[in-house]
Formats: sequence, C-alpha cells, structure tokens
Amino acid sequence: MCCGGCAKCLGVTLIPLAVLCTLANILLFFPGGNVETSDHISEEVWYFGGILGSGVLMVFPALVFFGLKNNDCCGCCGNESCGKRFAMFTSVIFAAVGVLGAGYSFIVSAIAMHKGPKCSMLDGTWGYPFENGNYLGNQSLWYDCQSPKSVVPWNLTLFSLLLIMSGAQVVLCSIQAVNGLLGTLCGDCKCCGCCGGDGAV
Ligand SMILES: *[C@@H]1O[C@H](CO)[C@@H](O)[C@H](O)[C@H]1NC(C)=O
Repeated sequence: MCCGGCAKCLGVTLIPLAVLCTLANILLFFPGGNVETSDHISEEVWYFGGILGSGVLMVFPALVFFGLKNNDCCGCCGNESCGKRFAMFTSVIFAAVGVLGAGYSFIVSAIAMHKGPKCSMLDGTWGYPFENGNYLGNQSLWYDCQSPKSVVPWNLTLFSLLLIMSGAQVVLCSIQAVNGLLGTLCGDCKCCGCCGGDGAV
C-alpha cells in the first residue's frame, strides 16, 4: 500500500483535473461557443459542479495530499518524533471533502447529460426538448434544438468530460482516504514494510 509519496502523486494529479473541470464548466456558459442570456443556459450549468465541486473545493485536498510527502509514514521509521498519524488523519478528512465535491460534480453532470441541453425548440420557445436521455442514441432528434447552434454536442462533450474527470477525482480521493486511514492506524510505523523504500506504491 502507498503512503506519503503516493499521496503526493494524487495531489499533483488532482490540480490539473480541477483546472480542466473549472474550464469545462466555464465553457458550458457559452453554449455552442455563443454568448447567450442567462435564461438560455441549461440549469445544471448554474449548479457550478465543475467550478465549485471539482474545482475550488478540490484545491484543499490536493494541497494537503501534496504536503504529505514530507510527513511520509515511512520516514517515521528512523524518526521517533512524528505526528504522522495526525497528518494522515487530516488527509482522510480532506479526502472525504474531495469525494463530496467531485461526487456532486459527477451527479450534476450525469443529470445534465440525461436531461439534455436547454435550447430554442422547433416551436420557437426555449426549453428542454429531450426526455429520458433519448437524444443520446438518436442524433436525428438533435434537430429539435434549433439554437444555439451545436449546443447539443457542445454540452454533451463538456458534461461527459466533467463526468469522467470528476469520476477520476472521486477515485483518487477515495484512494487517499484508504491510504490515510491505513497511515492513521499504522502511525506507529509497524506497517513500514508496506511502503516501498521511497514511499511509492
Ligand atoms: C430517432 O428519432 C426520430 C425522430 O423522432 C424517429 O423518427 C426515429 O425512429 C428515431 N430512431 C431511432 C433509432 O430510434
């Protein structure tokens, strides 16, 4: 099982994911690359799943995980005075925060993909023309969305990316939750054998 070195890798990976999720959410405010009034933007975009859940909220666990390298539970072996247990326990709390934030983003993206985008429909009114995700398997239905142009592939692509990236964040934070829990329990370093020499997996 991995310890501090592994946590550092997790932290480093979470940052670009958080940046990309934030970008994806920002792009969703410009459906099809167009500037639209706020009432023409899909409701789920306003839930800020990518910006808050997978973005801002993810910075805290990422930084905490990143800092764990210096608190490596393996380093504890040759070091009597260490608050490794506490450091690892803290990382579990932040891992849980990360799982909640990314989980929120994941659920919002899944709902948005199922529901489909808000757009100007064939009758000229603005709304959600698709139901039960039927448009996902039938591209001829996409003509129901007259404007903004390309709003269907735009939202579908960005929400799928958000879904995948927030899913990855949930997995990464879950790994650190388990890792940190083991580190907390093994704070006396009797588990040092479980970490490779350099603390990697
Ligand atoms: C796709 O939707 C169109 C328009 O409603 C419908 O005529 C067609 O049968 C659908 N095709 C499939 C494969 O469901």
